[in-house]
Amino acid sequence: MKIAVAPLADIPENGTCVFDLHGKSVLVARTPAGVFAIENRCSHALQELEGGKLKGFHIFCPAHGVRFDMRDGSAMGKLTKSPITVWPTEVLDGVIHIEMDVA
Ligand code: FES
Repeated sequence: MKIAVAPLADIPENGTCVFDLHGKSVLVARTPAGVFAIENRCSHALQELEGGKLKGFHIFCPAHGVRFDMRDGSAMGKLTKSPITVWPTEVLDGVIHIEMDVA
């Protein structure tokens, strides 16, 4: 199901916003590498990824620094190899949409 989330202009360039969508905390990142939607929860110690530094299509967990690839959710670093959930995004008429399975 495609969900309209927010106008692209509402998210600063190289910035993030968190949305509650169908019971999930979803972090949307707007970067020069694209717009990404990821689970706002680190797979290491379940801290929020909100506030993490962005670099290209990567985000660094603000708690202990694990780096996640926002394209596929994969984790890089010694602390965890568990991926996080990512959802496909699309910008249609200036509005960010996220493709989510909704029960
Ligand atoms: S909670 Fe994210 S790296 Fe530890």
